[in-house]
Amino acid sequence: MSSEDTHFGYRQVSLADKQALVDDVFRSVASRYDLMNDLMSGGLHRAWKDVLVNTINPPKGAQPFRLLDVAGGTGDIALRVAQAGGAGTRVDVLDINAEMLAVGRTRAQESGYDDVVTFVEGNAEALPFPDRSFDAVAIAFGIRNVPRIDAALKEALRVCRIGGRFLCLEFSRVDVPGFDALYDLYSFNVIPALGRVVAGDAEAYRYLVESIRRFPHPQAFAEMMRNAGFGRVRFERMAGGIVALHSGWRL
Ligand SMILES: C[S@@+](CC[C@H](N)C(=O)[O-])C[C@H]1O[C@@H](n2cnc3c(N)ncnc32)[C@H](O)[C@@H]1O
Repeated sequence: MSSEDTHFGYRQVSLADKQALVDDVFRSVASRYDLMNDLMSGGLHRAWKDVLVNTINPPKGAQPFRLLDVAGGTGDIALRVAQAGGAGTRVDVLDINAEMLAVGRTRAQESGYDDVVTFVEGNAEALPFPDRSFDAVAIAFGIRNVPRIDAALKEALRVCRIGGRFLCLEFSRVDVPGFDALYDLYSFNVIPALGRVVAGDAEAYRYLVESIRRFPHPQAFAEMMRNAGFGRVRFERMAGGIVALHSGWRL
């Protein structure tokens, strides 16, 4: 494997090919993405996202607060933060995929938050924002899809203000004996089958499961965050390790 190679699920691919393949996955599933999240997780993704939003803790009053939601897709996190925050809260959703953003824009209009949430097409590895422009930067279930994770972490740090916080919610490692075998059975059989029936694409969901298994252990990801320059790095596992919420600060 050369330094320019990475993985797309279990397949070894070049960094450029990975992004193109990831883009195909989300283009294919965009219109069914939110429904699939509910079906695959039995609604649990809502609880995990609530923990993220509570940790972001946008001010309830008119105090200005600007969040960047990287790989924000259909705006699920952004809309929850817009709802939780006060009159000073603004959220920029950045995503590389126009189809996912289009679903998000419609959702924002329909829920009346289109003046609070802005949708921007761009790459997490080269954020189109000036240094220190956000009070907080979040990425939910997105970082494992980005080919150059180190570059994305450095960019998140760059656009975060001094004293601002970075939060990353991502699938992690189940290490509860017995539960891990059950989780594997569910992930590799039920999820691709649901993907085929509901989103018309089993392969897209096979990739999502494989990419979860290839993502670094939480301790290793915490080290990557420290190497990118974040301080006071911590993580919290949820649901027996199915997901982890990582937190770091720009000090
Ligand atoms: C699993 S979805 C997560 C969406 C949303 N954050 C949520 O929690 O529902 C992953 C998102 O990452 C986006 N993505 C993949 N590579 C990206 C990149 N290099 N830069 C920005 N977004 C990217 C995809 O287009 C997709 O919308």
